[in-house]
Amino acid sequence: MSKIILTGDRPTGRLHIGHYVGSLRNRVTLQNSGEYDEVYIMLADVQALTDNFDNPEKIRDNILEVALDYLAVGLDPAKSHILIQSQIEALYELTVYYLNLVSLARAERNPTVKAEINLRGFGSSIPLGFLCYPVSQAADITAFDATTVPAGEDQAPMLEQTQEIVQRFNNIYGETLVMPKILLPDNKASLRLPGTDGQNKMSKSLGNCIFLSDSSKEIKTKVMSMYTDPNHLRVEDPGTVEGNPVFTYLDAFCAQEMVDEYLEGYETLDDLKDHYRRGGLGDVKVKKFLNNVLQETLTPIRERREDYAQNMDYVKDVLKKGTEAAQEKASGTVARVKENMRVNYFA
Ligand code: TRP
Repeated sequence: MSKIILTGDRPTGRLHIGHYVGSLRNRVTLQNSGEYDEVYIMLADVQALTDNFDNPEKIRDNILEVALDYLAVGLDPAKSHILIQSQIEALYELTVYYLNLVSLARAERNPTVKAEINLRGFGSSIPLGFLCYPVSQAADITAFDATTVPAGEDQAPMLEQTQEIVQRFNNIYGETLVMPKILLPDNKASLRLPGTDGQNKMSKSLGNCIFLSDSSKEIKTKVMSMYTDPNHLRVEDPGTVEGNPVFTYLDAFCAQEMVDEYLEGYETLDDLKDHYRRGGLGDVKVKKFLNNVLQETLTPIRERREDYAQNMDYVKDVLKKGTEAAQEKASGTVARVKENMRVNYFA
């Protein structure tokens, strides 16, 4: 059986370093590993519209922003199809068939959806499209026969719901859909990067993000004003490393070579942590090191992004070609689905 990757993002804003360590970095490694027969990366604009239906311009603008982020981190159109969800008609068809396989109670139980409903303050006026977006996400995944969905921890409930739909569909209509698996980042700090303010999620609406497109100066300002251990008031005080976002970022980004290059007097990141715990190490010093680490990682990404931004015709062409390849793949799946459901009257 071929190994196929499908994953994606809602184009609601430029991507940030939480996306990078939670998913993008891993995607590029997988893309380049040669282990996968096909890779599809989706700009999930239909899903983004489920809670932005009153602001379609925002989604439209961010399609190109996110496409630039993708190319900047190293997604390569020669290896990965980058596609726009709304343009793949098969996805709407699959969604409608799958909706019959999910109960209202099950849809309401999805923990990620629940959390988002609270965050957005939908109260009792939850749009049906929003409640059902995990079903449409099952269509995204199965349309491409995806075996592997590299994603952050918050996507685990979506994968569970997809697996249930696949199981149910195959039970009722016969073996049709491929059972997918989530692939989480193996670095624990990368599962969910906290915001610069210490909130447990980096999110644009909380204003606690470092974006892939941030200038070198913006990165530095954000790092130097990061939330750390609130009880670490004086340099001499012992500090806490666990749950301290500055150290979480270091865990997610710091390679040994960066310790060797930027951190005089310490052999490893663990030595730095031990010193912080003992006391006698100030936040400013740790933040300066983190700034160097982030600058080293993000500078090449930002520069590539600026280069691609000079050539938007090329970027649009990448999207067009990726979308065409995706249309072809997904219409094959929908034909198979309709045949097995016996809704192929004119065949
Ligand atoms: N739900 C994902 C997010 O919020 C985006 C997404 C849409 C996705 N379809 C997908 C992710 C399919 C993985 C697979 O970022």
